[in-house]
Amino acid sequence: MNLGLTGLTAVVTGGSSGIGAAITKAFAAEGCHVVFCARDQSRIDAMLESTQGLPGRVSADAVDVNDHDAFAAWLHQLPPFDIFIPNVSALSVDWRKAMETDVQATVNATEAAVPILMKSKQAAITYIGSKAGSLAAPGSPAYGAAKAAMAHYMKSLSARLLPAVRVNTVSPGDTLAENGLWDKVRINDPDAYAKVVARNPLGRLATPEEIARVVVFLSSPAASFVAGANWYVDGGSINHVQV
Ligand SMILES: NC(=O)c1ccc[n+]([C@@H]2O[C@H](COP(=O)([O-])OP(=O)(O)OC[C@H]3O[C@@H](n4cnc5c(N)ncnc54)[C@H](OP(=O)(O)O)[C@@H]3O)[C@@H](O)[C@H]2O)c1
Repeated sequence: MNLGLTGLTAVVTGGSSGIGAAITKAFAAEGCHVVFCARDQSRIDAMLESTQGLPGRVSADAVDVNDHDAFAAWLHQLPPFDIFIPNVSALSVDWRKAMETDVQATVNATEAAVPILMKSKQAAITYIGSKAGSLAAPGSPAYGAAKAAMAHYMKSLSARLLPAVRVNTVSPGDTLAENGLWDKVRINDPDAYAKVVARNPLGRLATPEEIARVVVFLSSPAASFVAGANWYVDGGSINHVQV
């Protein structure tokens, strides 16, 4: 299948590691140019090194999504882009951090991208949510509440922006990335990690690439009739019916 991404440009927030890095590479493998941001320059450099030779051009800058003015200024000096992937989360149990980064900074970043996307004929926003948005999480209610709020915002944004921009959410399940959240649990608390594996019917966590492939398809012209959707990529680990 031709995804129709050759020559388009995607912007990914938080593209230097984990799911964001896998999304960046998957876009570039399809001939889509990618610009990503993250904060740590050494990790940006390592990521850029690993994307050399891919069909799509990858570039990046050190920008913190929580610095709203700097982020908007950065977006507006980029060449025109077609696809926006808000991927950064504070990954925090702290209410203030979850609301500031996962909700306010993500809304601000997305709103800053909208006028630029409106100029593209293939415009798409694919938000990286989480299955946590629809699960009771006594240990991290702020994270789940932030993800639920953003899934709601993205659905409203879809209604607001169609037919000019397709807006969707991909909600990953537990995802094992090198040096990521679950990798640290795997190394430091094997019993807790075993429980996370056990709650996944496939007997393992997702790879970042398994999430990225769905994000890239959903963001591509090949998914031209998918809008306002929230696709769970959770390995069947959610047991309730999503109607
Ligand atoms: N991992 C999972 O199991 C899982 C499951 C469901 C959903 N998700 C969602 O997937 C997304 C990515 O998670 P992940 O696990 O892949 O995270 P990760 O491995 O920790 O990667 C986060 C990326 O974002 C960058 N970043 C963090 N804060 C930033 C900020 N304020 N401004 C700019 N860049 C920032 C990081 O680089 P710097 O630190 O250098 O800035 C890094 O490139 C999140 O939305 C998360 O909620 C993850």
